[in-house]
Amino acid sequence: MEKNTLIEKAMEAKKNAYVPYSNFRVGAAVYTGNGKVYTGCNVENASYGAAICAERTAVVKAVSDGETALKAIAITSDSEDYTFPCGICRQVIAEFGNDETRVICSNKDGKYREYTLKDILPHAFTKKDLL
Ligand code: THU
Repeated sequence: MEKNTLIEKAMEAKKNAYVPYSNFRVGAAVYTGNGKVYTGCNVENASYGAAICAERTAVVKAVSDGETALKAIAITSDSEDYTFPCGICRQVIAEFGNDETRVICSNKDGKYREYTLKDILPHAFTKKDLL
């Protein structure tokens, strides 16, 4: 999957962001082990803590469709800055990704920086750490 294509899909998903409280629109697109793409946007709630990030929307859509391996995820917003996944989303990506899963952090214009999951979540706590 071409990185720019994944970013474009994240940008498209951003259009559906439900953000009446923050007005901060985020879009994400995951590329799975079976070569499929799932997209997501952030979905906020009047009970603010119930907000769901775009990344988790995309990951949960993939997993609920039986796709449990993540090769890459692209994230974008309306910011001039690169948008990185929040801490909770990094943890959720780690559940279905691996150290080499690509995290493509884009700005509003599609300029991006690419990292591995290990870069942005070193020493992740995963199922291998459970007794
Ligand atoms: N948000 C995301 O969707 N992804 C992130 O990685 C950072 C934050 C959303 C949550 C909330 O709807 C809004 O951005 C402001 O925090």
